[in-house]
Amino acid sequence: MAQPYLHPLQVNPRTGEPFLRLPSPLDNFIITPPRLSDAPALMETLNDPRVYKTLESPPFPYLPTHAESWLDMITKESDAALEEAKKAYKEGASEPLGHVETCPVRYIREIKEDGSDVFVGEIAPHRCQYLDVKDQWEREELVRTNLRYAVGDPAIVWCFGDFVAGPYHGRGIMSGALKTIMAQWLIPRMGARLIRVEAFIGNVGSVRVFEKNGFVMEKTVQYEKVTNCGVTRLGLHVLLWHAEKAS
Ligand SMILES: CC(C)(COP(=O)(O)OP(=O)(O)OC[C@H]1O[C@@H](n2cnc3c(N)ncnc32)[C@H](O)[C@@H]1OP(=O)(O)O)[C@@H](O)C(=O)NCCC(=O)NCCS
Repeated sequence: MAQPYLHPLQVNPRTGEPFLRLPSPLDNFIITPPRLSDAPALMETLNDPRVYKTLESPPFPYLPTHAESWLDMITKESDAALEEAKKAYKEGASEPLGHVETCPVRYIREIKEDGSDVFVGEIAPHRCQYLDVKDQWEREELVRTNLRYAVGDPAIVWCFGDFVAGPYHGRGIMSGALKTIMAQWLIPRMGARLIRVEAFIGNVGSVRVFEKNGFVMEKTVQYEKVTNCGVTRLGLHVLLWHAEKAS
């Protein structure tokens, strides 16, 4: 393998871009780093009511400046993650492939017959933000504690942000993408043992995606909140995945 530190990422021989491939029959879908050229597709997706109504954080309406600054930030994060993976390997950490903090691939793409690809969605692991915890002091303390753990510490609580473009809903893409990211990067390369995710009450598809990947409903927290797009949400489901219980 040309770049063993990237294992198990594959590398596109033409562009040099690393990627993970979804399992069959979705093997024409891959997950790659973000690209600055994703801005128009990202804007179209995040201005689609099938997507923005069940998301908490993106601004609305989602403007070119939002897409440009977001992509500028996350392409740099992806580059840094690749560099981090390289260092973890070179420095001969105790693990054959040292743990890293970030996943360098996060944008799902469909590969067309002519070899071109189309933006399909995003899946990105990050340390848990405890959005369901109502008390601000308690929430900030939980976030601070979770941030203090060193890279690869099994005590880190992870979470996911994810969405699929409207025309691709209901084809098993996020179920396959979540399975791929967990099995091929989050668990082996980031050392994840505990993942805690949230979905708005009523987001049946999102809950199902997590349940299909071994997450168990922990609780439902009720509150009233108006999101950036003006929709009133009535609370969050919290689901958990434990490595010990899953194996
Ligand atoms: C939630 C979301 C990511 C699901 O992605 P997806 O690729 O469409 O999901 P999948 O096709 O893998 O579906 C997984 C399961 O959920 C079910 N499902 C998907 N959308 C559903 C919906 N709107 N209502 C009921 N069930 C749904 C599917 O039938 C499937 O279950 P099954 O295998 O038992 O039949 C996607 O709908 C989306 O991007 N929504 C907007 C943004 C969002 O809510 N993100 C998650 C924030 S927590």
